Amino acid sequence: MKGSSSVGNHLLKQQNMIMILMLFWFTKLGMVLGHNHVLGVQPLSKIAIHKTLLALDNMAAIAAAPTLLGISGEDTAWVTVKVLNPMPSNDDWVGVFSPAKFDSGNCAPAPDSIGWQETPYICQAPIKYKFANHDNSNYLKTGAAVLKFQLINQREDFSFALFSGGLSLPKLVAVSKNVRFFNPKAPVYPRLALGKSWDEMTVTWTSGYDHRDAIPFVEYVSNGGEVRRAPAGTLTFNRNSMCGEPARTVGWRDPGFIHTSFLKNLWPNLRFACIQLSYSTFSFKAPPFPGQNSLQRVIIFGDMGKAERDGSNEYADYQPGSLNTTDRLIEDLANYDIVFHIGDMPYANGYISQWDQFTAQVQEISARVPYMIASGNHERDWPNTGSFYDTPDSGGECGVPAETMYYYPAENKAKFWYKADYGMFRFCIADSEHDWREGTEQYKFIEHCLATVDRKQQPWLIFAAHRPLGYSSNSWYGMEGSFEEPMGRESLQKLWQKYKVDIAFYGHVHNYERVCPIYQNQCVNEEKTHYSGTVNGTIHVVVGGGGSHLSDFVASPPVWSIYRDRDFGFGKLTAFNHSYLMFEYKKSSDGLVYDYFTIHRDYRDVLACVHDGCEKITSAT
Ligand SMILES: [Fe+2]
Repeated sequence: MKGSSSVGNHLLKQQNMIMILMLFWFTKLGMVLGHNHVLGVQPLSKIAIHKTLLALDNMAAIAAAPTLLGISGEDTAWVTVKVLNPMPSNDDWVGVFSPAKFDSGNCAPAPDSIGWQETPYICQAPIKYKFANHDNSNYLKTGAAVLKFQLINQREDFSFALFSGGLSLPKLVAVSKNVRFFNPKAPVYPRLALGKSWDEMTVTWTSGYDHRDAIPFVEYVSNGGEVRRAPAGTLTFNRNSMCGEPARTVGWRDPGFIHTSFLKNLWPNLRFACIQLSYSTFSFKAPPFPGQNSLQRVIIFGDMGKAERDGSNEYADYQPGSLNTTDRLIEDLANYDIVFHIGDMPYANGYISQWDQFTAQVQEISARVPYMIASGNHERDWPNTGSFYDTPDSGGECGVPAETMYYYPAENKAKFWYKADYGMFRFCIADSEHDWREGTEQYKFIEHCLATVDRKQQPWLIFAAHRPLGYSSNSWYGMEGSFEEPMGRESLQKLWQKYKVDIAFYGHVHNYERVCPIYQNQCVNEEKTHYSGTVNGTIHVVVGGGGSHLSDFVASPPVWSIYRDRDFGFGKLTAFNHSYLMFEYKKSSDGLVYDYFTIHRDYRDVLACVHDGCEKITSAT
């Protein structure tokens, strides 16, 4: 016994040690250091950039300063843009282009366009835009405007262009000189994820260096002097990997190189301090051992989207709660251990630049806790490409950017389902954009994930998918009368019941809703807040209010709906031990708890037989 306590003390000391992790780059060259708005429409898609006409005006001017950004290694910088236009109009706008030199060689004239004999055609969408009169109320009188843009390091230089003619028939009036970051290729936007086993984590980041230019790896050093080095793999994708427009055309932008390093043999709950080039110090904690009894806190939400901090109303209206949710989660970083963002991430919809903007927006979170994702319709769906829904919601991305930009422990990243063990939790993450029904490959995975967890050690069994496969009283499901995605729970409810899934989470519907413990449309429990005893139904929770424009409920809630909130927010699970779980719903606006429930129970309550939830027994004694 004495021996084991001394080993325990040694482990504690190890856990208290500060580990320094650095991402080094070793290269062959050496060390490298108030307009119309339609809800839910990607703002960049409102610009008919391929119809641009030349209207260059020597009397007009656009100038940006400073022209060299990130001198101290910053990956974000503000640029002031001054506009002077002798013929101002209220629909004049300024687009930010990157690369600075417009792509003018790869777009064919649109059949309905007029004046296509003029060149150059602009074949790339800007990465963002503002109307010239934004914060410049005298623009129409004076023709002068000052605009502030926030840029992130996206591997290429930038230019600012003034257009007249509005978004639908742009006329190019003036172009600024180029602006660039000091090291445009710098490694940026670290994102952590759980690996395939409990003692493994991954670090993924983006850079402008291919594996032929540089050898990416992660090196981490303990205070005791042990140096470990983990190599990183390098991936990218190209225009031909896209399935359709705009991803293959005006929305295309080179995504750079995506590197993932696997940190193996990590001590449970060990905290690391990390320094990355071009990034301030950050730290993360290794996952707990499966079944380990320690405080474990999980954030879960969907549909957050992205928004711009430089005041562009167009962007803010697209996903109006996105920055609030991001900021609440950044403020609260000390109080949770892992995040699940269950689909619909940037809503890039084929405008590939927006993936950089999204990874930059969440980097404060993803550099400190595992940022686990699921696939949504805006990541995957595209007609005739095997997505279960034949919609064009991904804008031609057909899953490629999502599957490359983030790591998740799927066997095949194109089949976006995986299991994740985190201490007393098991998560079975499904992919609602691929067929989940009985007989499919995914159904087999879901059953295997649910069946292979030892509930005495990992009592908290969580199912999640992007679309509500269980229950939601969102208005469009209400109109169908089903309160689910068509065929959503038909096959799955018997698995949830048989394997006694505690909670099923969904996004897609942009609001919050909590359902009673339920089986086959019937609440199995009259309790509303403090659940205990036998597990005889699954609690379904919609947490799709991460940031995108909100969804309506049917007017009168179904009997199974316990709490509904048409607002932005996210969910938090806290496992205190093997017998006590708490769920909280927090609003993004103030971070306060507006709904919660608890589950108190013991192992025998999971084993207890309930309807359709037990294996056959014999009458022998
Ligand atoms: Fe969705």
